[in-house]
Amino acid sequence: MIFIFELFFAKIVDYFMYLKKDITLLSGSLRKNSFNTKILRNFEAEILRYGYKCNFINLNDYNLPFYNEDIEKEGLPKNLPILKNIFQNSSGLIVSSPEYNGEISAVLKNTFDWLSRKLPGETFKQTFLGLKTIAVTSSTGKNGGTRALERLKVLLSRLGVDEDILSYSLGNTADEIFNENDDLLLESQIAKIKHLVEYFIKSIQVNQELATEQKLKVS
Ligand SMILES: Cc1cc2nc3c(=O)[nH]c(=O)nc-3n(C[C@H](O)[C@H](O)[C@H](O)COP(=O)(O)O)c2cc1C
Repeated sequence: MIFIFELFFAKIVDYFMYLKKDITLLSGSLRKNSFNTKILRNFEAEILRYGYKCNFINLNDYNLPFYNEDIEKEGLPKNLPILKNIFQNSSGLIVSSPEYNGEISAVLKNTFDWLSRKLPGETFKQTFLGLKTIAVTSSTGKNGGTRALERLKVLLSRLGVDEDILSYSLGNTADEIFNENDDLLLESQIAKIKHLVEYFIKSIQVNQELATEQKLKVS
């Protein structure tokens, strides 16, 4: 009897552990006052309202050399397993990138190149597989980085995230649209982010419930 209770309890714990995986937010700009980072912070604030833990990645803190097979053979950069671990313990990903000459930032592409490498013991595309994702761009130009946004979505899809990639872009970005705490001041954009995050969280929960049902069926 006690054994059955313990088993049941373990399954319940397992269920909630499974549901409450973290959300990772990654900024593709290294700039201190980056608009992309500030916008991502506004996404984070909205996510936190749903009780999820957020891992906010500023790439200044996770330096990786330019990808080079020779470096990889000599030994992995110390930040690579740390970053991989963050991604592999996430159920959702929000990535923002500046648009530089119509492309995503070089530092973001380099990070993705490293993260795409399959390390011993990993399964195919393990780092990104099935992650619910929002691709974000913003620029000081009126198009809001939409060319980079398309590139970012193609790249994320290739890396293996959930195929229903959501997106958000903001043009004419300037210091004046944020307050001193980096909160967005544009009501229409605040509402957009709110709706997007609501849909994002719901999709994550649906995915997790389906996966948990499968898991309970087989165990
Ligand atoms: C080298 C370079 C290239 C840029 N190319 C574009 C571009 O193609 N399209 C665009 O809308 N903005 C372009 N910009 C402007 C950036 O979008 C703008 O600097 C933006 O604020 C950078 O993002 P951040 O604030 O997150 O650092 C470019 C800026 C730089 C420095």
